[in-house]
Amino acid sequence: MDRMFFYAHSGLRYLVLLAGVLAIGYFAFGLATKRPFDKGGRILGASFAGLLHLQVLLGILVLVTRFYYPALIGHIVMMVLAAVVAQVSMSVNRRRPQPNFALPLAGVGVTLLLIIGGIMAIGRGVFTTTAM
Ligand code: HEM
Repeated sequence: MDRMFFYAHSGLRYLVLLAGVLAIGYFAFGLATKRPFDKGGRILGASFAGLLHLQVLLGILVLVTRFYYPALIGHIVMMVLAAVVAQVSMSVNRRRPQPNFALPLAGVGVTLLLIIGGIMAIGRGVFTTTAM
């Protein structure tokens, strides 16, 4: 069971990163061409934040089914912050009278940096998988 959660958590990171990169590209294009924030932007932002939340949930399951060591604190703090930044930037933008691409772009950018930092905090590479 612990292996299942660990591998699911390890693998889902690629989907989270892919969703983040797609969102960055779409938001940057929208900002550069001065288009109004649209349904595509909402869907990409919500997919990124949703996958990140699922990853946090899986991370908690890994945490309770495997051993704990102090360096995990850095991983957990940065990942919780990442999920908060992603969600808040999307939600605040949606509630604006005129939502735009700037806030979601900055939000996803900061979130991706936090995710990279969080993975490195436990001595792993962004694209490396640990065999168990
Ligand atoms: C609060 C949220 C999270 C918790 C509690 C958590 C917890 C954990 C735990 C316990 C491990 C196992 C460490 C080990 O066995 O040495 C782990 C590994 C890992 N986590 Fe998280 N995690 C969280 C969020 C995230 C997020 C958001 C991402 C990426 C989007 C992520 C990516 C990874 C990666 C890449 C590994 C290493 C996998 C490997 O070595 O194959 N985690 N996490």
